Amino acid sequence: MSRTEPRIVERVDELQRWADRERAAGRRIALVPTMGALHEGHLSLARLARGLADRVVASIFVNPTQFGPTEDLECYPRELDADVERLAAIGVEVVFAPSVEEIYPPGDSTWIEVEGLTDGMCGPFRPGHFRGVTTVVARLFHAAKPHVAVFGEKDYQQLQVVRRMVRDLRLDVEIVGGPTVREADGLAMSSRNAYLSPEGRSQARALCAGLLEARALAQAGERDAGYLAELVRERIEKEPLAEVQYVEVRDAATLEPVERLNRRAVLAVAAVVDGTRLIDNLVLEETP
Ligand code: PAF
Repeated sequence: MSRTEPRIVERVDELQRWADRERAAGRRIALVPTMGALHEGHLSLARLARGLADRVVASIFVNPTQFGPTEDLECYPRELDADVERLAAIGVEVVFAPSVEEIYPPGDSTWIEVEGLTDGMCGPFRPGHFRGVTTVVARLFHAAKPHVAVFGEKDYQQLQVVRRMVRDLRLDVEIVGGPTVREADGLAMSSRNAYLSPEGRSQARALCAGLLEARALAQAGERDAGYLAELVRERIEKEPLAEVQYVEVRDAATLEPVERLNRRAVLAVAAVVDGTRLIDNLVLEETP
């Protein structure tokens, strides 16, 4: 891929005008929403988007409304210049990097909330989080007018919540999930991995190790979802710096709780390791 210097856009109306011109010229736009501090996981989504459209917009916006009061909004890594370089190497045409006031003008009071799907899994541990995600994603869609938007499967619940928002509001955007990218030892890539101490980093591997062990058992015929979840929990809790928030097996599409593995399901985990909240999941395909 040849290197393009992306155009950096900070204003919603400028991006909308650009999108209108691209659409009028018959070009297809893909959006990759991110909060920056881009790692290989994000870049894989940008490459996926590159193959799906004529123009790729990557947004870099640390969205305050999806952080709880005790979460890491202030210290969340911000590295715009390096991110633009990374996206340039992939041939992304536009980097949308708005200010908080641009996305949430003073006096703004409109939210978008998906109910039900957000009740379990990460929902109870991050009150208001998904409302912040759907609100910002809707605003990013409104700004970039994409034909297709790409989200990571690592944030599995987020992906399903965004799909539901698009379905319920009949938004004319195709949602594509990109596979989780992992470090060599299996740890799912995340901007928050940078917070881990060397010891925490080593213990964080337990999330992926537990999921892989459970998936191997499922592939060998184990059908008891509760048993598999318990196995993952025990594997993670062997690590002194790790505290499990949840391990759950849910229907891969509806996120309904699953007791027996008789359909495609997702085995999802959240744990705090060394003070850093990490999530991961594996899809358990239906096996005969
Ligand atoms: O997955 C993320 O990085 C964020 O939740 C998103 C989708 C960019 C919305 O802020």
